[in-house]
Amino acid sequence: MSSVIVVGTQWGDEGKGKVVDLLAENAQVVVRYQGGNNAGHTLVVSGQTYALHLVPSGILHPEKKVVIAGGVVVDPDVLIDEIDTLLQRGVKVTPENLLIGYTAHVIMPYHKLLDAARERPLPGTEDIGRVKIGTTGRGIGPAYEDKASRQGIRLHDLLDATIFEKRVKAALLEKNTLFTHLYKVQNSDISELLALREKWLSRLEPFMGNTFTFLQEQIAKGANILYEGAQGAQLDLDHGTYPYVTSSTTMSGGASPGAGVAPDKLDLVVGLVKAYTTRVGAGPFPTELCGTLGDKLREAGGEYGTTTGRPRRCGWLDGVVVKTAASLSGIGKLALTKLDVLRGFEELKVAYSYELDGQIIDFMPPDIAELARVKPLYKTFAGFSEDIKGARKLEDLPLNARNYLDAITEICKVPLGLVSVGPDREQTITLAQFF
Ligand code: GDP
Ligand code: IMO
Ligand code: MG
Repeated sequence: MSSVIVVGTQWGDEGKGKVVDLLAENAQVVVRYQGGNNAGHTLVVSGQTYALHLVPSGILHPEKKVVIAGGVVVDPDVLIDEIDTLLQRGVKVTPENLLIGYTAHVIMPYHKLLDAARERPLPGTEDIGRVKIGTTGRGIGPAYEDKASRQGIRLHDLLDATIFEKRVKAALLEKNTLFTHLYKVQNSDISELLALREKWLSRLEPFMGNTFTFLQEQIAKGANILYEGAQGAQLDLDHGTYPYVTSSTTMSGGASPGAGVAPDKLDLVVGLVKAYTTRVGAGPFPTELCGTLGDKLREAGGEYGTTTGRPRRCGWLDGVVVKTAASLSGIGKLALTKLDVLRGFEELKVAYSYELDGQIIDFMPPDIAELARVKPLYKTFAGFSEDIKGARKLEDLPLNARNYLDAITEICKVPLGLVSVGPDREQTITLAQFF
């Protein structure tokens, strides 16, 4: 038996969906354990593209079990839509292969209202330091806040009409006060919210269950389990570029509380690295390219959000960012994606340290004002012009592409386990065994 965790090392969208789908081949169970439908994970199999937000990226393997564990925040309407879309496309989604944890918190409509209200300007508050994060607007932060303040509603609460009503009423007491007096938006209507319970239950109850007992049984049976992280290390609530982060633990350590599995049952962490860097939303980004090179990366890489369609900010690979993630998550193997996108750049750059106020540092300063001031120090490499999408082993890559890979492993001090040279499952150079 072994367990592998896949995490993003940058600001998300590194290609986790593709790699989880690929590694799922050798697992029996695939588990999402944090985040919610702020995630957008893309899978391309036999030319067909699937965008997943909540359903784990093992779903295209009908014989595997996919699990949404308690650390995830679930928007039931989005999940029902996603299940329906998959069913319409002929993908198997039944209680036999999808399990949704009772302890997962529900994203309620008022969480989305609150998320949106916080991102809007508020007249008269211009100079008090309210920040616009550029969230996905999916209600993720407010749902995690309610979880932490013990006002959340869990999927299990949907089973009992009386408990659900009490919890919704208690939550609305605060939310509607904010909506009326601070944000000046329409209140949430209690009867509309209560009506959601039956609608949600009628579709989701057959999938709901105890993920703790299920995973313990699987561990006892010696199953291979794949844990699918969402977002990336620099969006981590504690260790990312706070406050421009998401509201959950995106480091590998989040898999333990999020899935309810002890750390000694987690074996290998695979860190996903995009061959350059992207970021959606606001916040510091030392290697960002704002001119034509950034535009070229965006177009070549199709860098538009899977969840919101927003153009992603693009820049050179930041080795300091990836090194930080390698330490935070205990990464044992790197999976490098989108190398093919770098074709046609005359030269390629990788930041290996920063200069901050005249000092050379090789870590990310915790203060984002300092991080915004750092000047990346780059190593420059000759680019490659060959189409590498057909490469299936390292020797198929041009020398310049291999030199670039060597530089990354040297900076990060972690070996490569896989190189992705196109979005399709097949477009991969596999260099290691993961399970
Ligand atoms: P995730 O959030 O980490 O799962 O990544 P996203 O799915 O949001 O974004 C990655 C995008 O790159 C998707 O459109 C993938 O289909 C695509 N992709 C993944 N790997 C590769 C690759 O090696 N080359 C290219 N060209 N595209 C890739
Ligand atoms: P995947 O799993 C990229 C970003 C948002 C915003 C910040 C907070 O596809 O890699 P939130 O809605 O979570 O409160 O937004 O986090 N963000 C992501 N960026 N990929 C993601 O997920 C993201 N999930 C959240 O753009 O800057
Ligand atoms: Mg994504």
